[in-house]
Amino acid sequence: MGHFVLPNTGGDVPPVTRIVPLGLPLLLVIAISFSVLRKLFQKTIPSPKFSLPVIGDALAYGKDPISFVRDATAKVGPVFRINMLLNSIIFLRGNDMNKMYLETREDVWSFGDGMGLFLNKVVIPGYFTHLKRMVSSLNRGINRTAALEHYRSIAAEEAEKSLSDWASKSDIEIFEEASKFAHKVIVRCLMGQDFYEKNIDELYDLLHRMEADIGHPFNFLFPDWVPHPPAKRLGKARDRVAEIFHERLNEREQDPEKWRNSLDYVSYTLNDASTAHLKEYYPAHHTLLMFAAHTSTVASIAWTVVQLLRSPAHMERLRGALSDCPNIHKSPELLAVIKETGRRYSGVNMLRLARQPVQVPGTDITVPTGSVVSISPYMIHHDPATYKDPEVWDPDRWLRPSEVPEQKGSSKQVTFLQFGAGSHRCPGENMAGMVTREMVSTLVKNYRVEWGSHGPPKDFSKLDFTKIGSPWLVGDASVSVRRLE
Ligand code: HEM
Repeated sequence: MGHFVLPNTGGDVPPVTRIVPLGLPLLLVIAISFSVLRKLFQKTIPSPKFSLPVIGDALAYGKDPISFVRDATAKVGPVFRINMLLNSIIFLRGNDMNKMYLETREDVWSFGDGMGLFLNKVVIPGYFTHLKRMVSSLNRGINRTAALEHYRSIAAEEAEKSLSDWASKSDIEIFEEASKFAHKVIVRCLMGQDFYEKNIDELYDLLHRMEADIGHPFNFLFPDWVPHPPAKRLGKARDRVAEIFHERLNEREQDPEKWRNSLDYVSYTLNDASTAHLKEYYPAHHTLLMFAAHTSTVASIAWTVVQLLRSPAHMERLRGALSDCPNIHKSPELLAVIKETGRRYSGVNMLRLARQPVQVPGTDITVPTGSVVSISPYMIHHDPATYKDPEVWDPDRWLRPSEVPEQKGSSKQVTFLQFGAGSHRCPGENMAGMVTREMVSTLVKNYRVEWGSHGPPKDFSKLDFTKIGSPWLVGDASVSVRRLE
């Protein structure tokens, strides 16, 4: 930051005190004039102006983000501002902007800072400065062949257990039950058998409690030091996760031999030179992972079941294909079904926080520092110019390769973003796919699945985008599961 030093006019007043009374008003005048001039000459970012005072567009966007983004694009074009309480999101639409967004560096539009907007109260300060290092270790750790095979066998075992339990009940709610299943697999694979045996229920409860509070408007309205109730609850949950890690890691230290060859990801980070010294950040890292891994894996499983129930022909065909398939993980029919679910039900937006002003190419609009910037995987996946009848869940489109555009690294088209692209592409793609395939294939091969006793849900179009990741069905769906003889 620069200083304005005024010339010495003589007299008894020491130079420093002269700077303060004269320099401050001058600085203010310059700053205000600069900001007014900048506002006059800089093109303002168009807003669809469906908004109410203070609340902004938060209500309308929150109620139906897809219609909001679609209508806003039609009204004001490919770059617009959504006013949210005291903040705003700047949305970019169209292939070139999507590509530019995904290629923009972390020091310009930051993924970590974007995550921090939601997760800052459940991770300890300083965690996000290690995010890149932690995510690189995750990528290496969970994608080892031996680790993936271990996770596959855990997913298969947990699928059998969950399905026997579902079959013993009259009806189950599919999103809720898929959530319990995914949580068990994620904790067992990533944290390890000890966390699974001792803390599985408490961790599930903590995840729900944090999820209920992180989107609370107080977190965005008040600065971090204000001790409002949601912030206090989040702080308590964060501290409890840290305690659990402390307890489990201390126990492991008592018996290092037992854990030496363990394939869970906590063991990997403890043995990885780049992360071994960062133990104090493991609770924060695993809290972030519970959020990153959970919601979308659940959506992948539950929506696939819902869509197969809505399309009995696909269910039967898949059952036939899986019955004589030597390796279900290579089944083209199963891969197509799951990929189509990922296309049809992906996240509504990605988040970056602008660390520097950026001019949007092809426009005279500058995205200012401090803005939240978004693109929408959901809208890309529902563009009729790319996908024929995009609202229709049609797995066969992936079996007719000429029909879907291929997204290669070198491609100029961004067409499929279920797992993101570029430097923040999802490191958990293999694990999520494998867990989903184990659950869906075991269910379809060995169980009869039907709508629950009250029949199918009335409305399949109501999507809940309030979690971080892919949407769930509002109101869930009751399903009956019975073992096939
Ligand atoms: C079907 C399930 C999943 C879907 C659809 C999904 C989707 C995504 C997407 C779209 C991104 C990029 C976000 C962005 O660029 O803004 C991402 C990043 C990430 N995902 Fe996943 N994910 C899934 C499962 C998982 C699992 C199982 C894990 C952990 C084992 C995981 C860990 C992460 C992490 C750590 C990042 C951040 C990467 C970075 O900072 O570079 N995800 N995921």
